[in-house]
Amino acid sequence: MSPPLNRRELLLGGAALATAGTLAGCERAEIIRPDGVPLGPFNADSTAEDVTAGIDLTGTTALVTGANSGLGYESMRVLALRGAHVIGTARTLAKATEACASVQGRTTPVALELTDFDSVVACATQVAGLSGSLDVLLCNAGVMEVPTAETINGIERHFVTNHLGHFLLTRRLLPQLTAARQGRVVVVASGAYKQAPADGIEFDNLSGARDYEPRKAYGQSKLANYLFVRELARRLEGTRVTANALQPGVIMTNLGRYLPWYQIATAKVVGWTFMKSVEAGAATQVYLATWPGLAGVSGYFFKDCNPFLPGGTMENDALAAKLWTTSEDLTRPYLS
Ligand SMILES: NC(=O)c1ccc[n+]([C@@H]2O[C@H](COP(=O)([O-])OP(=O)(O)OC[C@H]3O[C@@H](n4cnc5c(N)ncnc54)[C@H](OP(=O)(O)O)[C@@H]3O)[C@@H](O)[C@H]2O)c1
Repeated sequence: MSPPLNRRELLLGGAALATAGTLAGCERAEIIRPDGVPLGPFNADSTAEDVTAGIDLTGTTALVTGANSGLGYESMRVLALRGAHVIGTARTLAKATEACASVQGRTTPVALELTDFDSVVACATQVAGLSGSLDVLLCNAGVMEVPTAETINGIERHFVTNHLGHFLLTRRLLPQLTAARQGRVVVVASGAYKQAPADGIEFDNLSGARDYEPRKAYGQSKLANYLFVRELARRLEGTRVTANALQPGVIMTNLGRYLPWYQIATAKVVGWTFMKSVEAGAATQVYLATWPGLAGVSGYFFKDCNPFLPGGTMENDALAAKLWTTSEDLTRPYLS
């Protein structure tokens, strides 16, 4: 059990959480909508079940990464409930099997450790064997604010897990996505893109060796999530495959496992004032994965089930192009 909060810890936790809540409020006042993207009938309170009510996904296949926990688990549950065959991935086959077995509908567990590119390739190969086409690739798995710099083959862990692993997985599964009637890549980013370095991606510090700050590293990886989607959407123009990204809101899940205990305790006390339920947190990603009206919508960023323009480095196409070529360089032996 956690020790009781002292006054300083309560203030620190409260300040951090209040900032998150305030930011959410500020954003709502400043939302700028992109031209030509339809607004949906849903909002911040909608759940993943709400946004799929009446949608029959029978005959479709969806892959969800991080399906054993939080938003990924809820997404898998609802997609399967609506009739999709869901390939639920987790870091181990045991975790994936347990998660898949606990939901109603057709699911297939597959192991996927995003920091191990052999595992990513093995997952993609297995998926190709399971299904000739893939209607939805939901890149959901992630880690947040790992306290000390950890590297995998010289690259910092947030960047590898949250971006590079999904970049490689998507590239390997493009033939299956292209073979689908209307393939969709959905990448779960975060409002934490605002914590990324001012210039965007620190290409000269991808190891984190020069300086490492957990919030910045997480923010950079989440900025990378959307930049990847922008460049992917550009490259997919003229095909039926779309790519979009989203921020889900603030939701109590296992994502906060590395946060200080007093911040977690404070969230449990005051989080209800601005946090979403897991059911509502999963809504925007499931909406992007399934809403028929989004069949031709690609390259956009969403929150609360609607598109908005995030501005700044998030819309820097030169940065997106550089991220693409750098990501290719870092994964090249595994790309084909
Ligand atoms: N919760 C929020 O408030 C919030 C806000 C903004 C954005 N997001 C984003 O939402 C997504 C889902 O997060 P969540 O809140 O549902 O968190 P979560 O409950 O911690 O789920 C994260 C999932 O990612 C998996 N994962 C972590 N490292 C992995 C790796 N190396 N290889 C494969 N899978 C890995 C985890 O597996 P294990 O369980 O085995 O570790 C887990 O299944 C993340 O991308 C996160 O950045 C969440």
